[in-house]
Amino acid sequence: MKASHRIAGIVAVVVSSVLLIAFTYIYDWFPTQLTPASGKIDNLYKLLTAVSIPFFVIIVAFMVFCVLEFRVDPSDPPDKDGEPIHGSTKLELIWTGVPLFIILLLGIYSWIVLDQVEAKQKNPLLINVTGQQFIWNYEYVKDGAEKVDVKTSGDLVVPVNKPLEFRITSLDVIHSFWVPAARLKRDATAGVVTPLRFTPQKTGSYDIVCTELCGVGHATMRGKLKVVSKADWVKWLAGQKGGKPGGGTGGGGPDGKSIFTSNGCGGCHKLAAANGAGTTGPSLEGNGISAAQAREGIVDPGAKLATGFPNVMPATFGKSLSKEELDALVMFLVESGK
Ligand code: CUA
Repeated sequence: MKASHRIAGIVAVVVSSVLLIAFTYIYDWFPTQLTPASGKIDNLYKLLTAVSIPFFVIIVAFMVFCVLEFRVDPSDPPDKDGEPIHGSTKLELIWTGVPLFIILLLGIYSWIVLDQVEAKQKNPLLINVTGQQFIWNYEYVKDGAEKVDVKTSGDLVVPVNKPLEFRITSLDVIHSFWVPAARLKRDATAGVVTPLRFTPQKTGSYDIVCTELCGVGHATMRGKLKVVSKADWVKWLAGQKGGKPGGGTGGGGPDGKSIFTSNGCGGCHKLAAANGAGTTGPSLEGNGISAAQAREGIVDPGAKLATGFPNVMPATFGKSLSKEELDALVMFLVESGK
């Protein structure tokens, strides 16, 4: 290899590394930073990318160099092979020591960031998150020491600047609870409860996404995290309490519409009367369903499948709903099906 070629190669490696690293830091490629944790994770991500870039460039450059430098010469015999090489202590020390040092430093830095991000906060709003095919269900348990006891599904409404503590689990297969604006995600696994904490600091509407392939409706397992002012949240909460199953309005019994909403039925079924917009399961509008059919569809969903729809509805509702709740839901579905 000519000396001028070697110098050109080294210059190309240095220049492209510097340009790519500059791009990493200058170009704004992250979504809104919803929490203090978001900024810390973005910085960690940028550093990890910046450190990886020179290695990527050097490896690709060396590959190109080898392809050019050691290509077969037409005059060579077909079985020509290079000289064998045996060991080089110096090289081995370098390629073990340097990566070890870098990985340890990055590992310690990541540990520090993770420790800060996951730190417990005072008086959090405690929310149980339960994934099920194909919706997220939420149970507001406590606001600091105060009991809340409200259930919703699909969208999550929270007050701004309030530390949130989620306890995440699943009813069926593995899901993964992801809030990109908070940069945090956690698997939801049946039988295991895992915590996740962050404090949203900007009002607005942010995506909640399931990031674990969990079945045919996986792509529709989405919702919004609505961060609102404290006053709006208190108002919203009061409205939820009035309409919750068996609550509020003076012993009217469970309300079919709330049961439909809080059990996530709208995640798969279209039903405008209860804001259901899902398409994974059959529409429940104007289907003229009878009480017996509705009941069977809930308790034993695999018994009679609507044409063109797979057998994916959880068969757990017969157990998880009380007799009164089931009756109210059946009545609501018959009414809405008319
Ligand atoms: Cu739940 Cu993907």
